Amino acid sequence: MPKKSKRKKKRKKKKTKRHSQQKFSFTDMNADQLLNNSSSSSSTDRRLRILAKHLQSTSSSAMESNTVVSASPTSAAGSSVFAHIVQAPEDPILGVTVAYNKDPSPVKLNLGVGAYRTEEGKPLVLNVVRQAEQLLVNDSSRVKEYLPIVGLADFNKLSAKLILGADSPAVQDNRVTTVQCLSGTGSLRVGAEFLARHYHERTIYIPVPTWGNHPKVFTLAGLAVKSYRYYDPTTRGLNFQGLLEDLQSAPSGAIVLLHACAHNPTGVDPTPQQWEQIRQLMRSKALLPFFDSAYQGFASGSLDADAQSVRMFVADGGECLVAQSYAKNMGLYGERVGALSIVCRAADVASRVESQLKLVIRPMYSNPPIHGASIVATILKDRNMFHEWTLELKAMADRIISMRQQLFDALRARGTPGDWSHIIKQIGMFTFTGLNSEQVTFMRKEYHIYMTSDGRISMAGLSSRTVPHLTDAIHAAVTKVA
Ligand code: LMR
Repeated sequence: MPKKSKRKKKRKKKKTKRHSQQKFSFTDMNADQLLNNSSSSSSTDRRLRILAKHLQSTSSSAMESNTVVSASPTSAAGSSVFAHIVQAPEDPILGVTVAYNKDPSPVKLNLGVGAYRTEEGKPLVLNVVRQAEQLLVNDSSRVKEYLPIVGLADFNKLSAKLILGADSPAVQDNRVTTVQCLSGTGSLRVGAEFLARHYHERTIYIPVPTWGNHPKVFTLAGLAVKSYRYYDPTTRGLNFQGLLEDLQSAPSGAIVLLHACAHNPTGVDPTPQQWEQIRQLMRSKALLPFFDSAYQGFASGSLDADAQSVRMFVADGGECLVAQSYAKNMGLYGERVGALSIVCRAADVASRVESQLKLVIRPMYSNPPIHGASIVATILKDRNMFHEWTLELKAMADRIISMRQQLFDALRARGTPGDWSHIIKQIGMFTFTGLNSEQVTFMRKEYHIYMTSDGRISMAGLSSRTVPHLTDAIHAAVTKVA
């Protein structure tokens, strides 16, 4: 080989070596940069620092493991790299179903998770949902292509109209951006991730008590979670004064989580007059409302009545976020269908907000699933199907209301100590019974009745047939367990 080309080859070899060395330091450099660039104390920065540390440790361990491949702990002979993992507790709500499923008792009753059951205790698929599915199946032009990042356009438009009202000026002025998300939880998470990245105040105030998943969703999204008083255990109603005081002393601009209706777990909602006071206070302090609307139509049986709180805040021209779920009101639990709407002051802001929501969604799950959203869109855009849905929804809401009355009457007839009128005063899927965790454990052990440890029962899981059993259990619990 001529000398010249030999030199060339040597140079090339050197270059490749340098290049591969650079590869390692490139990862480290990124980690260092991340660490150096994230010296401020915001939660997003905290997450960046954790990521940076993670990158450092994985890159150095990658170098080490290069030299000792045979002793790799992931080889069949080594002990598990996950050996240190401790058993996590079950979810406080979904774990109730896990325990219920393991119970062989024929009289067992699941009043834990908020999922509708028929009088026969069976899950319900709405007729109108079956019809919509049939239409979808029969339509051979339908394909299984990816949806856009923001989901099905029709679904988004119709969902915004459903919650804000068909004649909402915000919708008409294109000031609302709506993205299809994975039910209520996914909508809350996308909204929270967006706020953590782009909103100046990263604290969210949540009511006490609230749905157990709220603090986890918001914390993991990078928001700081604080609370405001909501429920008064002595009256088993709203602690309105406490709520106003706490929102009054929240920092200007803070985010406030509001349950649009049928507060979970208490079933206690503000009256329209109280909502108006909350609205005025929040607007005067520039607090940002983030509504969780998981029960539209389920509380009163009317889609419009259950959207009133949200519509009051939109009617004043101000901004807010709304997370919607179709799990309960269309019975689409496992289809994971929901929407996040962000109501903005102007159409151009809404459009820029949407562009950023896409950047939140794409690395999380890319784009949402097509089936459930297609069912919802089919129903919402067809006048007859929509009407049929409202009838079925009202029937579900009415059955729950009648369960409240039946349980209340049965406890009164039994002479169970205590004032049980909160059962008929509270609204929506749940009754916050006031039973303590010892009484809950007793009822599970002795009567095979399952509920969350805070004493919440899902009225939707009860039927005329099971009311006497529950009455016996509550009676025994309050008379035998302090
Ligand atoms: C509930 O509160 O039971 C429902 O919202 C279901 C869930 O995911 O927790």
